[in-house]
Amino acid sequence: MPIVALANTAGGSGKTTTTLLLATEFARMGFNVSVLDVDPQGWASIYSHSKNADPKIRMIKNVPEGDVMRVAKKERSENRIVLIDLEGTANVGFKQAARAANLVLLPVQECLKTASGAIKTVKMIRKLEAEEGFQSDYRVLFTALDPLCATVEYKDARAPIEKAGIPILEHGLARRREFKGVQRFGLSVSELPLKRYPKRANAHRNLKPVIDEVIGILKSRKASREKDNMKTEGVAA
Ligand SMILES: Nc1ncnc2c1ncn2[C@@H]1O[C@H](COP(=O)(O)OP(=O)(O)OP(=O)(O)O)[C@@H](O)[C@H]1O
Ligand SMILES: [Mg+2]
Repeated sequence: MPIVALANTAGGSGKTTTTLLLATEFARMGFNVSVLDVDPQGWASIYSHSKNADPKIRMIKNVPEGDVMRVAKKERSENRIVLIDLEGTANVGFKQAARAANLVLLPVQECLKTASGAIKTVKMIRKLEAEEGFQSDYRVLFTALDPLCATVEYKDARAPIEKAGIPILEHGLARRREFKGVQRFGLSVSELPLKRYPKRANAHRNLKPVIDEVIGILKSRKASREKDNMKTEGVAA
C-alpha cells in the first residue's frame, strides 16, 4: 500500500484539508487508511473526535517527528494506505516522510506564499535525494481555487512553480465549503448532511478527478519505486 505525504513549509496551504479529503474518499472506496498526524497542533486528529468518523480510518495522533518513518511503514505493512499530515516546518518528521513516501503532494492555494513554500519544500526534497540517492515523486495540488475562473492570483502562483520544473496535478480542488465540512462533520463529501450542503454532489464531482489522478500516479509508481529498500532503511533523521 502507498504512503502519501502532504507537505508544504508554508502554513495554511491545505495539507490537513486535503489529507482528510483523501482519507475519507479512500475509505469510502473500501480501503483501510491510516492518517499520521505529525502536526503538534493536531488539526487532523479533530476529525476522529466526530461520532461519524469512518472506522476504516485509523487516526494516529501526536506521532513524534523521529518516529514518522517507522510508524508509516508499520501501518503500510498492515495493508493500509498511509497519509502523513505534516506541519509547515522542514523538521525531522518532514525528512522522514519525504524518504518514506511514494508520493509527496504539495497543496498550493492562489497565493505566492504557498507557492514559494512548495518550491522551498521541493528544494529540500531534491537536496535529500541528492545526498541519499533516492528518487521522489512529488506534485503540486492547487486547492481552494476560485470555482469560476483562473484568477490572476492563480496564474501568479502557478508561474514560479512551472519555472522551477515542479510537476502539477492536472486537476485542482476548488474553494468549497463542503471541503471544510469533512473535518467539521467527520464525513466524506458525499455523506455530508444534504440540508446543510445541498451542493455536495458538485463538490464530489470536483474531488473525484483529483482522487483518480492521485490513484493513477500511485499505480504507475508501484512497480518503479518501492521505498522499502536498503537506502532508506534505518535512516533515522
Ligand atoms: N479546497 C478548499 N476549500 C475551502 N477551504 C479550504 C480548502 N483547502 C483548504 N481550505 C482552508 O484553508 C485553510 C488552511 O487549510 P489547512 O488547515 O488544510 O492548511 P494546512 O496546510 O494544514 O495548515 P497548517 O500549515 O497550519 O497545518 C483552512 O481554513 C481550510 O479550511
Ligand atoms: Mg495542517
